[in-house]
Amino acid sequence: MAARDPLHEAIEETTRIVAASSYVVALVGAGISVESGIPPFRGPGGIWTKVGEPVMNGYQRFIADPAEWWAERLSDRDELSEFIQALEAAQPNKAHQAMAEMERDGFLHHTITQNIDNLHQEAGSQEITEIHGNRLKLRCIDCDARFPLKEFPLDEIPPRCPQCRGIMKPDTVMFGEPIPVDALRSCEYHTSLCDCMLLVGTSAVVYPAAEFPIIALRNGARLIEVNPEETPLSDLCAAILRAPAGEALPRLLEELRRARKSTS
Ligand code: APR
Repeated sequence: MAARDPLHEAIEETTRIVAASSYVVALVGAGISVESGIPPFRGPGGIWTKVGEPVMNGYQRFIADPAEWWAERLSDRDELSEFIQALEAAQPNKAHQAMAEMERDGFLHHTITQNIDNLHQEAGSQEITEIHGNRLKLRCIDCDARFPLKEFPLDEIPPRCPQCRGIMKPDTVMFGEPIPVDALRSCEYHTSLCDCMLLVGTSAVVYPAAEFPIIALRNGARLIEVNPEETPLSDLCAAILRAPAGEALPRLLEELRRARKSTS
């Protein structure tokens, strides 16, 4: 008799947990976009592994001289060009698509993403909080108003907010920058409701995002990890899909649909 693949049993267990849950939230990291050609930050092939961890006061440097920061930003695309090129070329992969379908089918209620790549939206997901911002937007540092980058005139440096004349910066959260209040409140709200949290492609070492699974666990939620590698949260998980997200999530979606059909 053919050996049952361990992933299949883990998917069956995950299906039981998700099907029995009333509010499922996914916390997503760079790992989900690796199969779209975007390198992760840490571990093998990680951006920080290659170029070194960035300075932790990026935001303070921006605030100190926004005009200088913008001038530099618009003149050269600095050493992160490999990352920026990968972002610009990336398309949603099977994992993003499976999550969008899980949302449409009512298995997944909200996604908290640490990614700035906009791939969840391009895959059709609607219920999303981008805790680290979105690369296609600018945000006012005074009123937090956000505008699509491609429609925003950059004739004035630093660019100014059309609503309050505040200084505009990329919506992406810089190291040293506080998480925008609206995004943080949204993360806390959905975490407080969730009774099952999927941890997809995150090393779970960056805060405050890495705190949400702990808060959910304290509230009695079950954690499920989708990651080919171990993380500091693996031992706290009720089930683990130890595989790339592009393999695990489409199979999970298929099993959730099969289980729903068999009980309806
Ligand atoms: N599918 C699922 N997980 C994967 C895959 C894959 N195909 N490939 C790699 N991973 C996992 C890795 O094993 C690792 O645990 O994804 C994780 C990526 O971890 P990080 O690179 O640390 O990314 P992330 O957790 O999103 O980092 C958090 O740190 O640098 C900041 O702002 C940046 O949002 C980022 C934050």
